[in-house]
Amino acid sequence: MGKDLKAALLGLGSFVPAKKLTNADFEKMLDTSDEWITSRTGIKSRHIATLEETTSDLCVPAAKAALADAGIPASEIDLVIVCTLTPDYMMPSTACVLQNKLDLSGRGVPAFDLNAACSGFLYGLSTAKAHVESGQARNVLVCGVEILSRVLDYKDRSTSILFGDGAGAAVIGRQRADGSGHAIREVNLWADGTDFQHIIIRAGGTVHPTTEKTVQENMHCVQVAGREVFRFAVTKMVEMIQSMMERHKLDASAIGKIIPHQANYRILESACERLNLPMDLFVTNLAEYGNTSAASVPLALDEAYRGGQIPKGKPVLLAAFGAGLTWASAVIDW
Ligand code: UT7
Repeated sequence: MGKDLKAALLGLGSFVPAKKLTNADFEKMLDTSDEWITSRTGIKSRHIATLEETTSDLCVPAAKAALADAGIPASEIDLVIVCTLTPDYMMPSTACVLQNKLDLSGRGVPAFDLNAACSGFLYGLSTAKAHVESGQARNVLVCGVEILSRVLDYKDRSTSILFGDGAGAAVIGRQRADGSGHAIREVNLWADGTDFQHIIIRAGGTVHPTTEKTVQENMHCVQVAGREVFRFAVTKMVEMIQSMMERHKLDASAIGKIIPHQANYRILESACERLNLPMDLFVTNLAEYGNTSAASVPLALDEAYRGGQIPKGKPVLLAAFGAGLTWASAVIDW
């Protein structure tokens, strides 16, 4: 069973909250400047959820758009995966809340969350591919989503300026006989826990359960060892892209687009320089959204797809890195 099944990306969608926080807004809140943020990161604004909006709320429009794009009703989804580090609750999973909001409850459709931080969507894609190709699921909904604004210390100028909120979703199913859908050639996952402290939210888990002290010390907020993560990110981006190009015998002219994790424009420029690739091969939207962690890759992919930026007939390369430390890549036919 499942021997000849090949997984494909059948539909994409995304959603960002309307409210924006610009560099000019940060200039009023912190000792920073538009010049510093733009030159060090390339970020100009981020979309921020209101306190009424939840993580599962952001998934709903993204998921509905992905279902419409795939041309299948929600009733044909038989697995829901939500990739996030900012769930609605510690328990139950956001995937179960989303399953209910999409009217998928009552059929026993399995649903779970997956946390691989900024590599989350690719970890979700790999899981979905495995479920489809083993015959365990026919159509899988994968959402990469974050409300990072809830876990930022807006007095910390080195981290708060980096992140934003948003959601991206994909429907993964069987490759169709009519050629529609995009075959997922491969998804590669890695992790190395040696430097797990480099991007971390210290409190709220079992090591530091929430107390008055953890709240006073903002231990429930994201902390990043910026320079170390920067070096790691450039190294892994170069390694992953180089190895996908070698394995699939692709030169620059044979690649449709590269969709990287949107963390910092300088990370992408450095990787690009080392790979000797033209920068316009990389899709970037971080100027508008900042780093949206698990939402970053599907949001950029969806925008590029809907904006007609991806040429037909050439593969798309995805590459992400993040807390864990984790990193992941994928090759998708387009
Ligand atoms: O998904 C993965 C998540 N994490 C990342 O992607 C982070 C990767 N790292 C980075 O993007 C960069 O390291 C940062 C943007 C975080 C920082 O850029 P940097 O060029 O590595 O700056 P730095 O940390 O070396 O800091 C340089 C200076 C420091 O001042 P001193 O010590 O030299 O006086 C900082 O205090 O810049 C200062 N600084 C700021 N100044 C104005 C840090 N943040 C700001 C700010 N505005 N927002």
